[in-house]
Amino acid sequence: MARADCRRACGKPRCHDGGGAVAACPELLNRDLLLRCSSPGLLESPAARSAWIPPDLRQLVAAVQGAPAQEIPDNDRMPSGDPIEAFLEAVGRARAQQIDTAPAVLATATPQGRPSARLVLLRGADARGFAFFTNYTSRKARELADNPYASLCMHWPTLEEQIRVEGRVERLPDAESDEYFSSRPRGSQLGAWASDQSQVLPSRGTLETRYQEIERRFADVPVTRPPFWGGFRLVPDRIEFWYGRADRLHERLLYRREGTAWHTERLYP
Ligand SMILES: Cc1cc2nc3c(=O)[nH]c(=O)nc-3n(C[C@H](O)[C@H](O)[C@H](O)COP(=O)(O)O)c2cc1C
Repeated sequence: MARADCRRACGKPRCHDGGGAVAACPELLNRDLLLRCSSPGLLESPAARSAWIPPDLRQLVAAVQGAPAQEIPDNDRMPSGDPIEAFLEAVGRARAQQIDTAPAVLATATPQGRPSARLVLLRGADARGFAFFTNYTSRKARELADNPYASLCMHWPTLEEQIRVEGRVERLPDAESDEYFSSRPRGSQLGAWASDQSQVLPSRGTLETRYQEIERRFADVPVTRPPFWGGFRLVPDRIEFWYGRADRLHERLLYRREGTAWHTERLYP
């Protein structure tokens, strides 16, 4: 399907080759055609279709669209300093491109080393670590109680950036969970009460009935935070920034914490 689209779009079979061959497309500056011509393997999902730009062409497209080009570390210069600041700068750059930077894959593992991963929304990042919120009786929370080491992984396809964070997870103080819970929409607050997250649900109707009961319980009063719901903070000891580059010569910049100091290393892609 992608090949047929490409022929319709620009009539140049060489465009199928991707990479530099896309330069043969006479519609190079048309972002939509450029996507269709250069990334047949990535055309399956609608999100990818609307979002993905080949790494070789990102700087060009950014220039054409008037967007700031991605700030990337110089090949010969090792970055130094604070990875949290680097993370916040990366988030700022991504948000300027209308990228939703909240979703992150959270991986946990049992003490026996059996891993599980799921998406959560990152709700804060600062010098103390990376915060997310969930049900304290969920599978992830139970795994974290038994084995507090976890990792977060973020991917921003349009920037070809991946950020990996690893470290020890601790519960947020109740006051911080209260503050975040009170900022949530009322429906989400009621939903948090209604869900025995990760437990077997006999039927959809059971959940809806529970929600209605909770609605009645909190009718006309603010919804307080359930005692079984709150935040965690991952305190990082490893943060890696990955930048997509041509010919799979990607950049990998690793920050490793030793005591209170961060050390930086470059990794093979
Ligand atoms: C985009 C997205 C964001 C999500 N954010 C959260 C979140 O912030 N907290 C949460 O508990 N679950 C969130 N979920 C649901 C989790 O992925 C998961 O299904 C749920 O937490 C149960 O996981 P567990 O059984 O491994 O504990 C999100 C799912 C998606 C698709």
